[in-house]
Amino acid sequence: MNDKKYCILTYGCQMNVHESEKLAGFLEERGFTETNKQENADIIVFNTCCIRKSAEEKILGNIGAVKPLKKNNPDLIVAVCGCMSQQVEMAEHIKKTFPFVNIIFGTHNLDKFGEYLDNYINTHKRILDIKDKTILNEKVPMYRTSGYNGWVNIMYGCNNFCTYCIVPYVRGREISRQPNDIIDEIEGLLSTSKYKIITLLGQNVNSYGKDMGNDVTFAKLLNKIADLPYDFKLKFMTSHPKDLTDDVIDAIANNPKISKTLHLPVQSGSNRILKMMNRNYTVEHYLDIIDKIKTKIPNISLTSDFIVGFPSETEEDFEATCDLVKKVGYNSIFAFMYSPRPGTPAAKFDNQIDINEKNRRVNILLKLEKEISNQKTKEMLGTIENCIVEKKLDDHNYLVKTDNGKTIIVKNSDLKELSFVNIKIDDRIDDQLFGTLVK
Ligand code: 5AD
Ligand code: SF4
Repeated sequence: MNDKKYCILTYGCQMNVHESEKLAGFLEERGFTETNKQENADIIVFNTCCIRKSAEEKILGNIGAVKPLKKNNPDLIVAVCGCMSQQVEMAEHIKKTFPFVNIIFGTHNLDKFGEYLDNYINTHKRILDIKDKTILNEKVPMYRTSGYNGWVNIMYGCNNFCTYCIVPYVRGREISRQPNDIIDEIEGLLSTSKYKIITLLGQNVNSYGKDMGNDVTFAKLLNKIADLPYDFKLKFMTSHPKDLTDDVIDAIANNPKISKTLHLPVQSGSNRILKMMNRNYTVEHYLDIIDKIKTKIPNISLTSDFIVGFPSETEEDFEATCDLVKKVGYNSIFAFMYSPRPGTPAAKFDNQIDINEKNRRVNILLKLEKEISNQKTKEMLGTIENCIVEKKLDDHNYLVKTDNGKTIIVKNSDLKELSFVNIKIDDRIDDQLFGTLVK
């Protein structure tokens, strides 16, 4: 152990949150310890996201803000990695604009972070290394920082090329991990009793195994993991509606260890826009899937992503999106203003929508989401939810969490932290739910 500290700044999705645990693994292995204060750090790592321009602008601003720290501590090492720097032009831009950034690499060479660190510390030569092939990251150290949540990659990359999306360009083609490697990792986590929620990660988990050419499927993987003899909940993200098969729906319905939550991004409620987005399903097809899910899993909690202001989106298209949101009755949604990403087809489409109009539409959708999620929270009153006991608040009062992330205060009880309990929700004050233990 040395007395040096590291600070990792993570932007974007859960994939990045987990990859930061791998970056931390390399640093811990070298004796660095974690700090969340940049001014105390000897190394700052920016693990970046490029899904929307706003993310990139924020990150560039935050990298720039490190300059004064470097003045106070000339030995400070600054590294930039992840999706944003996987774009070669952006990596060059960062190198040119921020001479104090010492190490730049992309998503495909995260496994080399240790090497880069050692090289930089020994030679003080700047490093810029971007590879263009997706790798499995099988043998990298890991320092988990997400409490009882264990993130587990099952696949990397995406083959879908939705016309708005930069992900296939910065994450490469789909590549699945071997089922045995996944199971071993999960057994390793569960056997410690520290991890109670396992979340399988992939850009499109429903196409897991398709690149392996044998009969491995996502549903089989789910069932195999859920059969492991431990007390835990299994979650996964993200699913593409076009690849969500009946056997996956059946697995969720039939296995009590698989969380009754599903994130199924639809993006738009207009068939014309879905076609332009290259999503490969229609609204009718999506609603059929939703019907099937609700029939087989009546207590399912659904969430989705939406993009508003896609090129040429009319008021009518947008209203179709609002109608779909109302029809499905999501527990919550994420709504984004379309952001043109250089190199993606949609960035060159005609009829780009004015920013003020995008803003107006996103606000309407977010308002709708608030009403709907409020209604959903109200509907939880009187229901019984299987929850994890997160922590003891004070004498006999506990904070427990539902599968879909709602916290409930349970008073006058004696619960075991990190156990699963059935809670009847019997009161609500503003956004806070209160419940009692059901024996
Ligand atoms: N602009 C706005 N939102 C986007 N997303 C992906 N690409 C873009 C873009 N160019 C959204 C999608 C996706 C979520 C992770 O981010 O809704 O599901
Ligand atoms: Fe992007 Fe579409 Fe792949 Fe999701 S499925 S990562 S939205 S290209």
